Amino acid sequence: MDDSVWIMSVCVLALSLNGRSIGFRLKEKHYCLSDDINPYLKFATKTGYNLQRGTLDPESLAPEGCEPIQFWHLLRHGTRYPSRKDIAAFGKLPDLQRRILEADSELCDGDLEALRRWSLGGLNETWNYIQTPEGDLELLELAGRFKNAIPTLLGKPFSNDSFKFRHTKTQRTEASARAYAKGLFGEESDMVYMPRPLDPDPLIKFYDVCSKYQREVKDKPEALEEAKLFAEGPEVAAMVARMSKRLGISLTLDYVETLYDACRFYKAWMPSEMSVWCAAFTPDDLKIMEYCEDLEYYYESGYGHVINYESACPMMKDLLLHLSNAVDGRSVPSSTFYFGHSGALQKMMARLGLYKDAIPLTHEGFEQDRLWRTSRHGIFTTNLAFTLSKCTGEREFWVTLMVNEMPVQIPGCPDTAGCSWQDFMKIYGQYENCDFDVICENEKEYYSSSGSLYYLHFLTKAFFLLGNVPFLWS
Ligand SMILES: *[C@@H]1O[C@H](CO)[C@@H](O)[C@H](O)[C@H]1NC(C)=O
Repeated sequence: MDDSVWIMSVCVLALSLNGRSIGFRLKEKHYCLSDDINPYLKFATKTGYNLQRGTLDPESLAPEGCEPIQFWHLLRHGTRYPSRKDIAAFGKLPDLQRRILEADSELCDGDLEALRRWSLGGLNETWNYIQTPEGDLELLELAGRFKNAIPTLLGKPFSNDSFKFRHTKTQRTEASARAYAKGLFGEESDMVYMPRPLDPDPLIKFYDVCSKYQREVKDKPEALEEAKLFAEGPEVAAMVARMSKRLGISLTLDYVETLYDACRFYKAWMPSEMSVWCAAFTPDDLKIMEYCEDLEYYYESGYGHVINYESACPMMKDLLLHLSNAVDGRSVPSSTFYFGHSGALQKMMARLGLYKDAIPLTHEGFEQDRLWRTSRHGIFTTNLAFTLSKCTGEREFWVTLMVNEMPVQIPGCPDTAGCSWQDFMKIYGQYENCDFDVICENEKEYYSSSGSLYYLHFLTKAFFLLGNVPFLWS
């Protein structure tokens, strides 16, 4: 199950109403991707990690005089193949290729030549949702960079006491966890313990077990009304008309979606090569597609609906638990890694107050500046890294946050470079209480008041200990 599947279909449905072709040609200078030395590479949630990540600076993880004692890392899986349905749609591309090459298009010679050379390759439906080799590499290299930045924590040999890995029940998050482990431990990574994934996972996929979220957002098309209105609006209609003219063929709507996916997926799979299907779009067209996606995710996982971020309280509580344990001197494990999906990352970011626009995003807001940009905070391998340090001097305990290896001001903290533990708890301490089942109006209890996550940790630990003391059973 992937969040983006039915979301994209909202855009597509509306787009199909607007496709039309215009059969004349102007002699003017048209956009040419092959000549563009700085092409537009912000493809919303299907952007390859290395196209938009930051450059990790160890100094911004922990300031001078501070020693990291706790690391908490929540990650989206890496670059993957599309869904079965979207891969099937790629089957239309060879025919589109032929028709565009035969048509009187506005494409420059370089783009036409690249289009002539393009082929579908081995892509087939059995690859649905599988992580790509580039995706594995994204995680492997990222782990290596974090290890270099905090060798005292991440450079240790593997032990259950120091490291906790957890992924969801999908190939792509497991592959991500494995690649990350390899980046930390190299050939020794085989011994890294990955607990059997839970399905549903009440921590990494908290939204799957939140009834209110399912009812009011996930299963309710009206929840994404703003995205639909934008997709049916004048900007998108004009874009489809422009693209039809540009390519010299009459585009219906699902074609634009398939072209967009072809453009951004091939770029994510092979970031150092030109993705020829992007030549179908001008940078302005790509910005329209991007806004459509930003709107969808804003309402599916961002500030668009309160339950989106309220449902993130188990994750928030888990973070606070790990950090406060370390502050209290109970730092086991010292590093925690969770491998999940875009829904968890974005909801958690909204709970933290990140990328919050003063004015909500709507179908009329395309021209406005915005902080909510999934091309920055929703790409493949998107990751939220909290580092807690013990410092000499006044600071005592210090928390920093990195999103995609870029330092980020913790919302509400007076300091741009991080947060004192006191300030951090003033802002977020309220989330130590998580009435998840009340918030989500769950009939089945996932977290009763006593059955907090801490309690669950405790139980697991207790059973583990008991299981290792045979005489207790005899
Ligand atoms: C880590 O814990 C798991 C489950 O309790 C156990 O099977 C595994 O052997 C442990 N690994 C190490 C290296 O201690």
